[in-house]
Amino acid sequence: MKNIILFGAPGAGKGTQAKLLAEKFDLIHLSTGEMLRHEVAQGTALGQRVKDIMDRGDLVGDDIVVGLIAKALDHGRNELLDEWDELRLRRACGIGDNDPLPEKPQPSIIYDGFPRTVQQCQMLEFLFQKKQRRLDRVISIDVPQEELVHRIHERALVSNRSDDNEETIRHRLEEYESKTRPVLDYYKVSGRLITVDGSGEISETNSRLCKVMEWILQN
Ligand code: AP5
Ligand code: MG
Repeated sequence: MKNIILFGAPGAGKGTQAKLLAEKFDLIHLSTGEMLRHEVAQGTALGQRVKDIMDRGDLVGDDIVVGLIAKALDHGRNELLDEWDELRLRRACGIGDNDPLPEKPQPSIIYDGFPRTVQQCQMLEFLFQKKQRRLDRVISIDVPQEELVHRIHERALVSNRSDDNEETIRHRLEEYESKTRPVLDYYKVSGRLITVDGSGEISETNSRLCKVMEWILQN
């Protein structure tokens, strides 16, 4: 079971590519941005706490996002696990053949938009120790700044994300430069960083990432 971080600036294509990779390689996809938007949409206490922070384009507190990841590590799901649970239930009800239940799948996990500060990296290491996991690789999707801005502006025309507006986009990129970029150096030092050119079409970046992912999953 591998743990792979997909890293990149806002608009680099983390969400787009993580979804494609999760489908192709049966990974569990954990996106802190999606988890937080879900909390906001559900109007939970946590959602109410983070809504304004996200609308401004600030980073949410480290404790909050690490807490979400900790919970997701215990409950994260994908199709493999759903199928296995269904099989287990059918066997428990005496439906199906008498073959023993196959071993529970241990899907690999792809982290999208997390960690985003050096503090989060350190907290993740501590969490992994507790959960007996280890970080395998960090894949950074590299995209020039003007292309990032262009992509988010394009999406702003059609999306209903409340942080896709001129002022917030600028601030999200500032937050990235000051607080998230140092994460790259953190992982470069440990030799786990792989950088992939993400400036081209979605399919071009995807085929580069698939090659890297195949290698990571086999090694
Ligand atoms: P989050 O949801 O993580 O947003 P983000 O990373 O800032 O930005 P995006 O989701 O826009 O970028 P992406 O790289 O996923 O690109 P995408 O695939 O969508 O975070 C939102 C907020 O939540 C943060 O600001 C913060 O407040 C909070 N938060 C989340 N995680 C946190 C954490 N760990 N710590 C603290 N706070 C946290 O693509 C963008 C657009 O480009 C799409 O329209 C897509 O279709 C298009 N596109 C993608 N690839 C290409 C391509 N190759 N060519 C052309 N267009 C493309
Ligand atoms: Mg995203």
